[in-house]
Amino acid sequence: MSTLTQEQVMAALRHVQEPELNQDLVTLGMIEDLKVDDTVVSLTVMLTTPGCPLKAEIHDRIFTELAKIGVTSVNVGWGHKPRGQALPVALPGIQHVIAIGSGKGGVGKSTVSVNLAISLSEMGARVGLLDADIYGPSIPMMMGADERPRQLNNKLVPVERHGVKLMSMGFLLPNPEDPVIWRGPMLHGVIQQFLNEVDWGELDYLLIDMPPGTGDVPLSLSQSIPLSGVVIVITPQPVAASIGMKTLKMFETAKVPILGIVENMSYFVCPSCTTETNIFSRGGGRVVADAKKVPFLGEVPLDPKIREGGDTGAPVTVSEPQSPQAEAFRKVTAAMVEQVHCQPLMAAVTTV
Ligand SMILES: Nc1ncnc2c1ncn2[C@@H]1O[C@H](COP(=O)(O)OP(=O)(O)O)[C@@H](O)[C@H]1O
Ligand SMILES: [Mg+2]
Repeated sequence: MSTLTQEQVMAALRHVQEPELNQDLVTLGMIEDLKVDDTVVSLTVMLTTPGCPLKAEIHDRIFTELAKIGVTSVNVGWGHKPRGQALPVALPGIQHVIAIGSGKGGVGKSTVSVNLAISLSEMGARVGLLDADIYGPSIPMMMGADERPRQLNNKLVPVERHGVKLMSMGFLLPNPEDPVIWRGPMLHGVIQQFLNEVDWGELDYLLIDMPPGTGDVPLSLSQSIPLSGVVIVITPQPVAASIGMKTLKMFETAKVPILGIVENMSYFVCPSCTTETNIFSRGGGRVVADAKKVPFLGEVPLDPKIREGGDTGAPVTVSEPQSPQAEAFRKVTAAMVEQVHCQPLMAAVTTV
């Protein structure tokens, strides 16, 4: 077999389609650092987001095409290059702002928020988490953070835990147990300050744990923040599903893209016999998703480890990363990333 040239390899890579964008990797400018040594190739694929769930698929396609021209070994590295022009940046330095919403309190919005944030960070993304539940801030406790944010050049420096930058009203109250009694407009101002007067630095994702409800507060917040989309958390009881529908409608009316629905407390896995029991009517989240034609991002079990993680400041994705519970959150995270990134990008690229 004769020695291959860079040109031959590039020509073969032109036959590798990016699975979602329907264009090849070369045209999309995703190939960098190509080195060809006899029949051994190494290259870096620049993804549009760290931890893009399409990695495995892209890897297989590259391998198949290059094998056809006699390549014997491919070493694929992964890089990350947001497509600056196609995707407008949400806020200076922040690529994507994602809200986590629900109609009802107590469905596990904060639990889902912290575990999604940690999973994103573990995928290599730079992540912030803003607790917009001003009346009942729970992020500091769930993340095991109780220090006060420092002030630097007139900006607040987020507190960092488990690889995530955090900001919450809970950090700023003289006594965290004190109730916050504010009216809507004041609350609005605080959230704007949290966005603009906190030194978030460069972030791939800023998650916002939204206040509960289908009323004015989440609505006006979602309109004043440049959101990439919202993830809606519901539990499988019929009443929660109906509130989930209302919440969805509210965000749709506000023209916020719906990234999908997460069903929390979906089923219970017996710790001794591993039998799955559907305590509520499991599947309610998927029913809502199908009815409203929005993506279903996954199910999270009802599990004591998940609650303990939240109570002790070490969410299950940190305390037991190998557990099926942590895996459930990682699956939801991957599905969410796919919705945020791969799809809007597809629209942006195909219209060029
Ligand atoms: N999947 C789950 N399994 C067990 N407990 C959970 C689960 N999700 C949430 N919880 C617990 O339920 C309570 C409410 O969750 P939280 O995330 O604070 O809800 P929200 O932010 O929607 O009000 C917390 O005590 C939390 O630890
Ligand atoms: Mg909460």
